[in-house]
Amino acid sequence: MKHILLIGFMGCGKTTVAKRLSYTARSPFLDLDDMIVKKEGMAISEIFEKKGEAYFRRVETECLKELLTSKSSYVISTGGGVVLSETNRKILKKLGICIYLRAGENTLYQRLKNDKSRPLLQTDNPRGRIAQILSERKKLYESCADRIVDVDGLTIAKTTEKVWEAFEAERLQRRENKKDRKRILVMHGPNLNFLGIREPEIYGTQTYDDLVNTITEYAKELSLSVTFYQSNHEGALIDRIQQAYRDNVDGIVINPGALTHYSYALHDALASVAAIPKVEVHLSDITKREGFRAISVTKDACQLQIYGKGFEGYRDALMFFSQKNS
Ligand code: DQA
Repeated sequence: MKHILLIGFMGCGKTTVAKRLSYTARSPFLDLDDMIVKKEGMAISEIFEKKGEAYFRRVETECLKELLTSKSSYVISTGGGVVLSETNRKILKKLGICIYLRAGENTLYQRLKNDKSRPLLQTDNPRGRIAQILSERKKLYESCADRIVDVDGLTIAKTTEKVWEAFEAERLQRRENKKDRKRILVMHGPNLNFLGIREPEIYGTQTYDDLVNTITEYAKELSLSVTFYQSNHEGALIDRIQQAYRDNVDGIVINPGALTHYSYALHDALASVAAIPKVEVHLSDITKREGFRAISVTKDACQLQIYGKGFEGYRDALMFFSQKNS
């Protein structure tokens, strides 16, 4: 789940609200019809005219499928007819949280009566046409929606506020249902699998398994989902970071062990997945040990560095992600 999708009849305010919402959500705005226009190099009306509605719907489906693998989270305004295809309805559900901006026939008529850019309404009886299309689509919008916002009588500002509230409520509910927890990859570099054996006077007597169990408990408290990876090999860690990019994880916590102090390759791997927030953690206080440990070549690729707090440092690292509004 990542995008916010606005669905509803033409004239219900999807595009205007989505643009405003993109500021609140701090996610870029995307208009599905614009995406189709760019892909086809033709205006929507021209696509309908020259290639027909069935063709248009196929391109619409292709665009929705592309969004399934996009790296960014968008606030998306969709075309009024997007819900007509069952495939589209299924993809919309997978793409994120769908909010239906439900407008009554009267509101729509008032908003659309002078709009000449809507080919479907260029008839003698636009009001009747609106009522007819609405009755055909209403159930589809409702079945596709995770939340419904009634927009009759609301200003655009108020509608935007209500849509944001609806989105937040849905997101919270999903997190509580554990369906939509943020996925954090917790990585450990060389020798950290030897915790409990290696230098207990510095790292304590608890083992790597104890650390994994403790972090799992922290994650539960913070409603995050964690997976673990440990390797003694630089290349394997780099491969795992690249895999995390493909898996679209929400964050990485990394204790690179001694690689911290000299691995530019690991720095570059972390820097190359710029869209993923990252926190570097060290059990010991690396600033108060041998001189070479005070230098971290990897920390600049991370948003935060935590050291000297033992296992507790990982709680702070996870808190960074649970507080982050992304
Ligand atoms: C460490 C500190 C590093 O200097 C050292 O090489 C480690 C562990 C820590 O967690 O304190 O392996 O990252």
